[in-house]
Amino acid sequence: MIRDLFAKIYKNKGPLGKWASQAEGYFIFPKLEGSISNRMKFHGNEVITWSINDYLGLANHPEVRKVDAEAAYEYGSAYPMGARMMSGHTSFHEQLENELAEFVSKESSYLLNFGYQGIMSTIDALVGKNDVIVYDVDAHACIIDGVRLHLGKRFTYRHNDLESLKKNLERATKVANQTGGGILVISEGVFGMRGEQGRLKEIAALKNEYKFRFLVDDAHGFGTLGKSGAGTGEEQGVQDDIDVYFATFAKSMASTGAFIAANKEIIDYLKYNLRSQVFAKSLQMQLVIGALKRLDMIRTMPELKEKLWVIVEALQAGLRARGFDLGQTQSCVTPVYLKGSIPEAMALVKDLRENHGVFCSIVVYPVIPKGLILLRLIPTSMHTLIDVELTLKAFSAIKERLENGVYQHLSTLVKAEISE
Ligand SMILES: Cc1ncc(COP(=O)(O)O)c(C=O)c1O
Repeated sequence: MIRDLFAKIYKNKGPLGKWASQAEGYFIFPKLEGSISNRMKFHGNEVITWSINDYLGLANHPEVRKVDAEAAYEYGSAYPMGARMMSGHTSFHEQLENELAEFVSKESSYLLNFGYQGIMSTIDALVGKNDVIVYDVDAHACIIDGVRLHLGKRFTYRHNDLESLKKNLERATKVANQTGGGILVISEGVFGMRGEQGRLKEIAALKNEYKFRFLVDDAHGFGTLGKSGAGTGEEQGVQDDIDVYFATFAKSMASTGAFIAANKEIIDYLKYNLRSQVFAKSLQMQLVIGALKRLDMIRTMPELKEKLWVIVEALQAGLRARGFDLGQTQSCVTPVYLKGSIPEAMALVKDLRENHGVFCSIVVYPVIPKGLILLRLIPTSMHTLIDVELTLKAFSAIKERLENGVYQHLSTLVKAEISE
């Protein structure tokens, strides 16, 4: 019997969608209003905002805003029209690619309209059906979707676990020996939920034992790690061992777009084979010119990164001193793990937002194990030490209430109130 395609959708809204009626507009799809900054408005009240990846505070920097506005005035939002290959190529795109390549110490780079589709196409273009992919099980959705396009074998290794990686490299080597293919290993530079750095140095060292190429998604490392801000490869001294480096403009660059960087021959190949670029309109000029400005500021204003790290260290040290579990973070991403149910997590976050003016993201099962609540804080160079102090006070207060069972009691009320 054939069913209506939509029948399953009416029944099951999906793992996140099922919370929509209770959570939408507050916990999911919240509206943060006002200029992007350390203080924004939520439901009409000022909140200290810890949920925006504007690490270096470039989103609203007056010089950046000026360049963005002038570029928009000069070129509008259409130019250039068409795909890069056909009619959407400009000297500015080329200049940005040259500067990005130089900044991350690679021969060449290529722009991507979005990180998500861009890395999917990168994975798709790098592997053929005889090749094998080995990737960290905690990889970002865009990596997983890229792997889904692959017609050959793929293996996951346990998160940041070198023994598990080795075991899977053995399996991959066996397969590749039979098919005559190669192996692509994929890790993130910084894992965006938990803040751990990928073990890039140790993974790269495995090239002495196994034959593979290494792709790193450094969305959160670019601009925040490494002496010059060139990312996690620079931080761990292994940039040369990363065969294909990827970063998005959506975080430190505070914009839209992304890039990949590698040897010239590889980029020349990818330029012609990245389906999400070949068959899509070129990155618009306003974003390209804006990215040139942002990159220039990252290169010439180290104080932005220094200020960011003052805030990161104050926040993370303060939370640890108050007994919070921050897991293994080795980056700006500041996860706070608490024990509790999803309704308790909702009551707790509501208390934080309404009574303490602190806005951070909340992550629950199925993204993390059942019974855990993850509050994720993203420090930026816009934050002040006063923001940190107020936030630490708020966290001490919610910890006590969580431990005393207050949120368990409140959780029954939260559902009702939110749906009002
Ligand atoms: C690790 C990681 N990779 C890729 C992306 C996707 O980048 P974009 O937002 O440019 O599509 C993100 C999110 O922005 C990310 O966190």
